[in-house]
Amino acid sequence: MKLLVTGGAGFIGSNYIRHVLDEYPDYHIINLDKLTYAGNLETLRDIESSDRYSFIKGDICDKNVLDNAEFDAIIHFAAESHVDRSILDATPFLQTNVLGTYNLLEIARQRDCTFLHVSTDEVYGSIEEGLFTEGSPLMPNSPYAASKASSDMLVRSYVETHKLKAMMTRCSNNYGPYQFPEKLIPLFIINALNGKPVPVYGDGMNVRDWIYVLDHNKAVDAVLHKGTPGEVYNIGSRNERPNIDIVKLLLEKVAAKLGRDKDEMLGLINYVEDRKGHDRRYAIDPSKIESRLGWKPETDFEAGISETIEWYLSNQEWWKRVISGEYMEYYKTQYGEDL
Ligand code: NAD
Ligand code: TYD
Repeated sequence: MKLLVTGGAGFIGSNYIRHVLDEYPDYHIINLDKLTYAGNLETLRDIESSDRYSFIKGDICDKNVLDNAEFDAIIHFAAESHVDRSILDATPFLQTNVLGTYNLLEIARQRDCTFLHVSTDEVYGSIEEGLFTEGSPLMPNSPYAASKASSDMLVRSYVETHKLKAMMTRCSNNYGPYQFPEKLIPLFIINALNGKPVPVYGDGMNVRDWIYVLDHNKAVDAVLHKGTPGEVYNIGSRNERPNIDIVKLLLEKVAAKLGRDKDEMLGLINYVEDRKGHDRRYAIDPSKIESRLGWKPETDFEAGISETIEWYLSNQEWWKRVISGEYMEYYKTQYGEDL
């Protein structure tokens, strides 16, 4: 099988490519990525020489970008993915997440190929009690979530109108190696390593449902191979945690690994102004993918977090290299101080 992976130089896409190349010795991957600030070929150094892997630098909004490529299925990860950036400027979110997805849907329709759209639980909005199911209404609150919900709607319309063999996944918050340092977990690990304050939004009681990236990717794999066209599959680990609990866990573990004083490390916690429109709680019901496709999350949260901290400790050249001047400017705008 030949898979076209979009956004394969980003966090989840790169881990997915690595997983597929390891798991399926006869599969080929073409990675289409624009290499925005979030996409880095550094992330793929260990596989770039594989004869089962090739890379196209290009924009998913470009109609002709795949003219010379042959593939059996599109696994669509490429997106603008950070909520805070969508609050500062939603334009690239609408371009890539909405128009880019539309362009890929057109390409898939013309080629009559399978399309797996990787989406997020954030399209459901915030939930006070209970869990998001695949039938929950789409009530996105951030421009990021609205752009992803729009792309989900487009995918749905191509299934209904053009009978496209498309499937959709909606996953909760991911963590693990190669995540760009702007997101909560890597940002706080790196700040803790550097002895810098960690900026907790609001009261720190917003709840996210965390999943290890490899568990997410195995779920995407299960949908690709066993999913039913037209269906949506929620992916989650039943692992809800208030942000402040995660922050304390990270700081305590970093302190232990570095042999530093735990209370001094916890002193880095800095409560800052809340994010605009900050969703209070995400919580996913993964029963459908568990019962229909036999997928289950395998990674224990504390073990996954320890491994992730270890990874950021041992791969400091990676995160120092991927942090560009653009990121330094963003950090200053977002947090009012230098990185
Ligand atoms: P990321 O920001 O780390 O990576 C995105 C990748 O897409 C980058 O390599 C970037 O260069 C590429 N890209 C962006 N615009 C492009 C364009 N116009 N053309 C081609 N490539 C482009 O994102 P991620 O965290 O790996 O997320 C991947 C997907 O998973 C996204 O669709 C996101 O919505 C979804 N998702 C993420 C999470 C999470 O917790 N990170 C959870 C659920 C779903
Ligand atoms: P994030 O990693 O940006 O993921 P998402 O917004 O897609 O859930 O944020 C996770 C949670 O952490 C979210 O509730 C916002 C919070 N957060 C902070 O408190 N401080 C920060 O600096 C960041 C980036 C996030």
